[in-house]
Amino acid sequence: MPPPAAPAESVQCRPAMDDIGEGVPLLLLHAFPLSRRMWRPQLTGLADSCRLLAPDLPGFGSSPQWPAAACRMEDMAAAAVSRLDEAGVAAAVVCGLSMGGYVALALYEIFRERVRGLVLADTRAAADDEAGRGRRFASARAVESGGPPALAALASSLVPRLIAPRTRTARTELVAWLHREIAAAPPVAVAAAQRGMAERPDRTHLLPHIAVPTLVVVGEEDEITPPAESVALRDRIPGARLVTVAGAGHLSSLEQPEAWNAALREFLRGFTPDGGGRG
Ligand code: MLT
Repeated sequence: MPPPAAPAESVQCRPAMDDIGEGVPLLLLHAFPLSRRMWRPQLTGLADSCRLLAPDLPGFGSSPQWPAAACRMEDMAAAAVSRLDEAGVAAAVVCGLSMGGYVALALYEIFRERVRGLVLADTRAAADDEAGRGRRFASARAVESGGPPALAALASSLVPRLIAPRTRTARTELVAWLHREIAAAPPVAVAAAQRGMAERPDRTHLLPHIAVPTLVVVGEEDEITPPAESVALRDRIPGARLVTVAGAGHLSSLEQPEAWNAALREFLRGFTPDGGGRG
């Protein structure tokens, strides 16, 4: 495997991926139904510690429209790996939040040699149950047929669950931003990701075989992937560490960026830019 290319400096070198900073490559995989824009606090707060690569997952943000009815987590992982190829990055610390975490686990399973470390934030390894799958398929149909009002309705039902009550009160600009982002998400991408998440396999079996340094992060008030699930995740992954972010819900990286970035900075200290690390 060739060594990583010289890191780009504070540039967005191609559409649909931010590539900022230098040092250990950190691939950031965003949540549903957002885009790489959710990583702005990390792109500004961590660029002195690592090289941040934040792609839009297929169909989201400014990436091209996804051509199929479903976009599987494996498809998203392959798309992220092709961005690493384009950036000349042989292997990265792979960080995913929620849906991004599902993608990170798929990426580890399929492209293990591309992963130097894992950050699993506000996510889980288990698949959906039957009722959850049904809700996703119904939501996909609603968004496809309902257009902007359906996306606005999705935002109204999702936003209160994405962030902690105190964030909702204290960060009205973040609440408004989330509503705008979700309302502007491409319906095709939202529907395809819902179907892809519905179809994702249970990857719990993978956890005891994870052989790279792993950090699990969770907002202490995450109601979508509650902290108990992150404790279970930590317990199943050899040597994994868990950081619980006070005052945050599901979107912990956006709600408490300073604490979140501090946890990442500390974790990244164990890696060297040239491919060494703790693993
Ligand atoms: C996310 O934040 O990415 C979603 O909560 C993931 C999901 O719907 O399971």
